[in-house]
Amino acid sequence: MILAVPIAGFILAPFFARKHEIWRSVGKVESFKIGETTAVQYEDASPLPWAGVTARSAAWLRRVNADTFIAFSINCTHLGCPVRWLAKANLFMCPCHGGVYYQNGAVAAGPPPLPLPRYPVRVKNGDVQIETSAIPITK
Ligand code: FES
Repeated sequence: MILAVPIAGFILAPFFARKHEIWRSVGKVESFKIGETTAVQYEDASPLPWAGVTARSAAWLRRVNADTFIAFSINCTHLGCPVRWLAKANLFMCPCHGGVYYQNGAVAAGPPPLPLPRYPVRVKNGDVQIETSAIPITK
């Protein structure tokens, strides 16, 4: 009976855990060229005190026009490997198992079960900000 409370707490905690979503600045608006997709880095939404360099995360950020940005997860939806943007091919490629995504993040080929997730993006005080959250791996 004494163990029942901690065990129940361990099992039920994820259902009551708060989502860690934080807006992170990734650069000034003018530092991104219209039409280009570039890698940006930021601190993870919920870094642990001992995380060190692993607290850093990344996304692919595309400036669509003067005011519009799109941010894609850098992690493949298959097993989480970092995808690369190939500008000449207009494709995201995953080197681990050959996953390929179109420019809009939709799956083009290979094992990824889902499109590349997108993060909300906003411009605030001249900074481009991404709303970070846990890495969206499906497995
Ligand atoms: Fe990307 Fe397997 S992790 S294709």
